[in-house]
Amino acid sequence: MNSQKKSHDSSSPARKVMHIVGARPNFMKVAPLMREMSRYPQKFNQLLLHTGQHYDDEMSKCFFNDLGLTEPDIYLGVGSGTHSEQTGKIMIEFEKVCFKEKPDLAIVVGDVNSTIACALVAAKLCIPVAHIEAGLRSFDRTMPEEINRILTDQISDYLFTTCEDANQNLIKEGIPENKIFFVGNAMIDSLLNHMKIANNSVILEKLGLIKNNKIKKYGLVTLHRPSNVDNPKILKGILYALNELAREISIIFPSHPRTIKQIKNFKLIEMIDYEASFLSYNLNKTNQNILVMQPLGYLDFLCLMSNATVVLTDSGGIQEETTVLGIPCLTLRKNTERPITVKEGTNIVVGNDPDKIANTALNLLKNQNSRKKRPKYWDGKAAERIIKVLSIKL
Ligand code: UD1
Repeated sequence: MNSQKKSHDSSSPARKVMHIVGARPNFMKVAPLMREMSRYPQKFNQLLLHTGQHYDDEMSKCFFNDLGLTEPDIYLGVGSGTHSEQTGKIMIEFEKVCFKEKPDLAIVVGDVNSTIACALVAAKLCIPVAHIEAGLRSFDRTMPEEINRILTDQISDYLFTTCEDANQNLIKEGIPENKIFFVGNAMIDSLLNHMKIANNSVILEKLGLIKNNKIKKYGLVTLHRPSNVDNPKILKGILYALNELAREISIIFPSHPRTIKQIKNFKLIEMIDYEASFLSYNLNKTNQNILVMQPLGYLDFLCLMSNATVVLTDSGGIQEETTVLGIPCLTLRKNTERPITVKEGTNIVVGNDPDKIANTALNLLKNQNSRKKRPKYWDGKAAERIIKVLSIKL
């Protein structure tokens, strides 16, 4: 293992870099990094490790296909569990991999359990850790992701940030400035790289969203946070709000497996129209206006997002993607770790009060705002900046 940080000597062999992914929001952040790094085979020898936190094909494999990611070199297959079970299993398995592979750098992304688990193992083995998307803070420690973010940042050696407020958060937490690099948003690199091909998706036709050659107005929904979907009263309230909005426009709701499970558990299925496969869906053939279906792949989802009238979500990344696409986004949470999407982008944090959600969305239909600003360095070149830094530092 590297017990000391080295600076790159051009005559030395390529550095072994291990990219770590586990859950759906990780894949689109790693894809541009791997692509950019592959341009320098003399400097970097890349390995891709998948923890198996997400394992359903629709949550994982189809993203590999859509993003052109190679099969993982190492698959840990840890699956679901409580937070401690999942984090613990990843740590045990990842440590064995580190002993065998002896990477020179571990790259972790985002804030999922796989991120903190692998960062902690690597840090204890004195393997340098790079954290992509460092410094985001909701200041809400009831969110598991907030704990993952704070701890990962404390033990990382290279902290790559998407916005200047993230730098400030890190500095306030005592991270030395020379470890922090404001490089922009790697997830937006993926978005910009794939937008053209996503426009070839036939998802709009499949869902009956095109009439007389025109795209109909529709709202796109994603929900998966335990704070929204594990409480029957809150989930019912959100579905009520969606039904109010559905009086005006169609609602397309590709559902995380946990969410559809809870809709069934809480006997709320009559509030929606559920069909496991979107292939059997067509808005023109149903009486309901809320179509809930399996999770969609990256390209189909990008196509739906970029043509939506409004997006309603509790995801983190979608707040950023809608900002770049100029699509209004209602965030169904009390807070956001991405305030720049509110300040400069199209995001409105509405919480989970049903009337507030419905009224804000209905008002938006009446007064569609024009496109807002795109944050600095959300320009498709974040991976390039990250690799430039790592080429010098490693
Ligand atoms: C995880 C991340 C969250 C991220 C989300 C994106 C953490 C703490 N949370 O949440 O930040 O926004 O991914 O989707 O890491 N399940 C399946 N199939 C799968 C994966 C999960 O059915 O492929 C179901 C299981 O019932 C599982 C539940 O979803 O118990 C939750 O999965 P888990 O990985 O624990 O967290 P997410 O809610 O997906």
